[in-house]
Amino acid sequence: MERLILKVLLKNYTKMARFVERIFHVPVMLRELIDFFFFAPRELMRKYFSKKPIMIDIEEVPEIFVDTTAGGGGHLFSLINYYQKIFPKKFKNAIFIGLDIDKDAVHYLEEKRKKFGINNLFIYWENYVNIRKLFAEIYFPQKPCRILFDLGVSFHQVKIPERGFSFDNEGIIDMRFDQVSQRKSALDIIRESNLERMERILREFGEEAKAKKIAKKIFQKKREIKTTYDLKSLILSISGKKSVSRVFQALRIAVNNELENLKIGLEEAFLLLKNKGRLAVITYHSLEDRIVKEFFNYCEKEGKGRVLTPKPVTSSLEEIKNNLAARSGKLRVFLKYEKI
Ligand SMILES: C[S@@+](CC[C@H](N)C(=O)[O-])C[C@H]1O[C@@H](n2cnc3c(N)ncnc32)[C@H](O)[C@@H]1O
Repeated sequence: MERLILKVLLKNYTKMARFVERIFHVPVMLRELIDFFFFAPRELMRKYFSKKPIMIDIEEVPEIFVDTTAGGGGHLFSLINYYQKIFPKKFKNAIFIGLDIDKDAVHYLEEKRKKFGINNLFIYWENYVNIRKLFAEIYFPQKPCRILFDLGVSFHQVKIPERGFSFDNEGIIDMRFDQVSQRKSALDIIRESNLERMERILREFGEEAKAKKIAKKIFQKKREIKTTYDLKSLILSISGKKSVSRVFQALRIAVNNELENLKIGLEEAFLLLKNKGRLAVITYHSLEDRIVKEFFNYCEKEGKGRVLTPKPVTSSLEEIKNNLAARSGKLRVFLKYEKI
């Protein structure tokens, strides 16, 4: 019965999710995320890895959910909808929390929340590194038992030229997730960095083999570079299109302090998570994925729980056909299980 509902839910999509997606973002691995949030570990092992089941007897129905990167609410609203259908009697006691560092996303989510009249959904404009602080300030009856990180950029951010994330649109090279309180844009980084720093950014955050050559060119022309197209053509004059992607990725990571935030965010989220709760992370490049993998392995070694994804879960071919952005997504999930 549960599977049937999930199938119908995912196939037809709900009115809510469809509405949210079309405008703002298309969530990646929605079906997989719902499985990993609701199915018992033994079922997950069987379904995804044909492995021996993990025989941990798991908990009551989850009650508090946090989406730390709620974006357009694709995951969040679908989780709410699924919960409403599967646990109708428990729904009114469940709490859903969505954070985003981008004010555009927060306005959008708040509007949707009102439109669909979801009174047990709370939206915050917040960096996920502050998740534990947020819980300390606001009274919630319990700790969360499901926490999601869906990293990277939303379609909305990529689509708007003025945000400067995409080299397919011409705009000022901004790239800040938080355009309100973050002071420095990617263009500021280009203008202010010395050659050594620029090379380090491209090498460490872009894993760009031609980091030295490209950094030198950027450094020489830094006063002339203004828009995403300027930067793109400068890179293309000495390297290929893959280098353009890698340089844009590197600058985005640098301007938003993404890797450092992720390390802190994971630790904070793990400390906050209720025992027997689950932490799910979807990453889109190897630097992020490595951080998540190492963190989960460390937690397991320390006896704090079990990795529920011995290998990362990836999108189906069908999903990738419909949403190219899904091709690089990797889902890893950890089950916190501390013997008290
Ligand atoms: C891939 S989108 C999430 C899409 C969302 N899962 C959905 O289904 O619509 C990633 C989001 O994370 C947000 N974000 C990035 N860094 C953040 C941080 N440190 N704290 C909170 N949100 C962050 C971005 O602003 C963006 O909206």
